[in-house]
Amino acid sequence: MKVTVIGTGYVGLVTGACLSEMGNHVVCLDVDARKIQILNDGGIPIHEPGLDAIVQRNRAAGRLQFTTDVEAAVAHGTLQFIGVGTPPDEDGSADMQYVLAAARSIGRHMTDYKVIVDKSTVPVGTADRVKAAVAEELHKRGLQDTGFAVVSNPEFLKEGAAVEDCMRPDRIVVGADDERAILLMRALYQPFMRNHDRLMVMDVRSAEFTKYAANAMLATRISFMNELALLAERVGADIEQVRKGIGSDPRIGTHFLYAGTGYGGSCFPKDVKALIHIGHENAMDLQVLQAVEAANDRQKMVLVDKVVKRFGEDLTGRRFAVWGLAFKPNTDDMREAPSRVIVDALLARGATLSAYDPVAMTEARRVMEGLSGITYADSADATLDGADALLVVTEWKEFRTPDFDRIKAALKQPVVFDGRNIWEPALMKTLGIEYHGIGRAG
Ligand code: NAD
Ligand code: UGA
Repeated sequence: MKVTVIGTGYVGLVTGACLSEMGNHVVCLDVDARKIQILNDGGIPIHEPGLDAIVQRNRAAGRLQFTTDVEAAVAHGTLQFIGVGTPPDEDGSADMQYVLAAARSIGRHMTDYKVIVDKSTVPVGTADRVKAAVAEELHKRGLQDTGFAVVSNPEFLKEGAAVEDCMRPDRIVVGADDERAILLMRALYQPFMRNHDRLMVMDVRSAEFTKYAANAMLATRISFMNELALLAERVGADIEQVRKGIGSDPRIGTHFLYAGTGYGGSCFPKDVKALIHIGHENAMDLQVLQAVEAANDRQKMVLVDKVVKRFGEDLTGRRFAVWGLAFKPNTDDMREAPSRVIVDALLARGATLSAYDPVAMTEARRVMEGLSGITYADSADATLDGADALLVVTEWKEFRTPDFDRIKAALKQPVVFDGRNIWEPALMKTLGIEYHGIGRAG
């Protein structure tokens, strides 16, 4: 099938690459000429495991192309995916300008039947707005209707596992009321089904809502576990034991129960905000979700609170080693990363920092440009010498089994703040390392 993907970011590039891997002919469009240049030069603008190989293979086979040429891109695909950003506006609502601009581009250039697929995370009712924007552009061209359908097809991939999630989805949600569009969507996704029908057709508004509901549910689990972790510390329980104890109940399940330094990334924070805003627009206070957001803001400061409790409010003259800056492992994404709040708060108290991340160093330098008091080391080990303590902020695998003797010898005093509970308090005690985890007993 011929597919156009508008917006070649995390979602657009992964979607385009995975669809081309199944034999489709895909054109990825972006307004960012630099991004398209990198891709056309054989590079890749983001770090995402497995993506490079798929992109290069399908580009070489001629099934995956990258362009800034709107007219040619719109002419190409029967299916037009919109995967542009929907960042938070000042009031917390999703900023729809990019989605509507993409819709208008389609309306300005389409000449035959198109299925327009909203893949970006968008508020309920967006498909109607997209439809109206396309229709308006067609009318401007004196065309009544070349025939088009708007479908909601939210994306559930996680960064760091995006290719795997895209190639082996749990479910594919399609919100549509047009039979021809549903048939085309089924045909497109058939190769991803793995012997089970994972495609759910529902009404458009329910599909749009499903995406926010999923992210809000996951964010709620995390904030709730983070809050329980804080209480566990006070009552002398260990949140890791509690996690196992509750996760074995299939009604609760084992995933997404990890206490830490709060959720970050480009999606949970903005989608929680957007859903709260949708509540307000509909005269509803989403009380649970507001608490989820407040708890997450507090959680991003938990590691700093622990440092202050240990070293005092004034951290002048103190230096800390920081392991991990990306909002989660296996990505270089720094959007809403808890590390940014932690770094700012420690620097504001007079500390200096030596930081390391396995892949997010370039991105970290870019987003934290202008901050004084932070230096970037070439390895985790190189952050340690003479530091007052070590802070683990992102749970990269390479941090899991370090040379603890070396850590002990290099730090001024052997003190670690483990923001992701990657180490065991009992082992730390045996090693003579002062250990501060999140919700850990001992
Ligand atoms: P991104 O910022 O990485 O990419 C968006 C791209 O769209 C950018 O490259 C931008 O230049 C391009 N763009 C903007 N306007 C354009 C236009 N008019 N024409 C062509 N290109 C245009 O964003 P992302 O992380 O891929 O997220 C995209 C959407 O998918 C958001 O709604 C997000 O909530 C949702 N989503 C993201 C993830 C994720 O893990 N990142 C997962 C699921 C859903
Ligand atoms: C999340 C969802 O998991 C995806 O299903 C969704 O498609 C995506 O948002 C989106 O809409 O963009 P992502 O943000 O890439 O994906 O990463 P997650 O693995 O969900 O992690 C988000 C944040 O929660 C990270 O900061 C992570 O450290 C934190 N987290 C996650 C925890 O603190 N504890 C957990 O148990 C799990």
